[in-house]
Amino acid sequence: MRRVVYPGSFDPITNGHLDIIKRSSEVFDEVTVGVLVNVDKKGLFDIEERVELIRKVVKPYKNVKVDSFDGLLIDFMKAKDIKVIVKGLRAFSDFEYEFQMALMNNKLDSSIETVFMMTNAKYSYLSSSSVRQVAKFGGCIKGLVPDEIISMILEKAKK
Ligand code: PNS
Repeated sequence: MRRVVYPGSFDPITNGHLDIIKRSSEVFDEVTVGVLVNVDKKGLFDIEERVELIRKVVKPYKNVKVDSFDGLLIDFMKAKDIKVIVKGLRAFSDFEYEFQMALMNNKLDSSIETVFMMTNAKYSYLSSSSVRQVAKFGGCIKGLVPDEIISMILEKAKK
């Protein structure tokens, strides 16, 4: 079985993330969305909420699972028997960071491969941090995140 992990902070999940999840679910037999418990960053949503939002929007994809992890990604992968990481690339500016992470993960465990999917052009400008900002200052986030989680994001951003 070809299993893959799609790791990230997902604070919150955007339509760009969801597009990568959907396309990965067509290429791999099983996709695990790995949500990083980020202890350093005080985000918008806590880890349980981020996982819940993602579970809500990946329901149509039967081979997609969602789980959280802390510590090293390769340890999470070992525990789940996953050998491949999928990441989305939006622009050249993502490349250096992603290149470094892919090489570091491969250095830590040489059986790990990272594959990159080019973002859908219509989401190339989109990031969780820009969604957080727009929501915080009352802008419209329709089209940026899945419709069913818009109200939850706006509610949270108001606080
Ligand atoms: O959505 P993000 O913040 O770009 O995701 C980054 C993530 C979660 C993929 C990355 O920070 C990660 O894998 N963190 C776990 C720690 C780790 O394994 N570090 C070694 C690779 S540099």
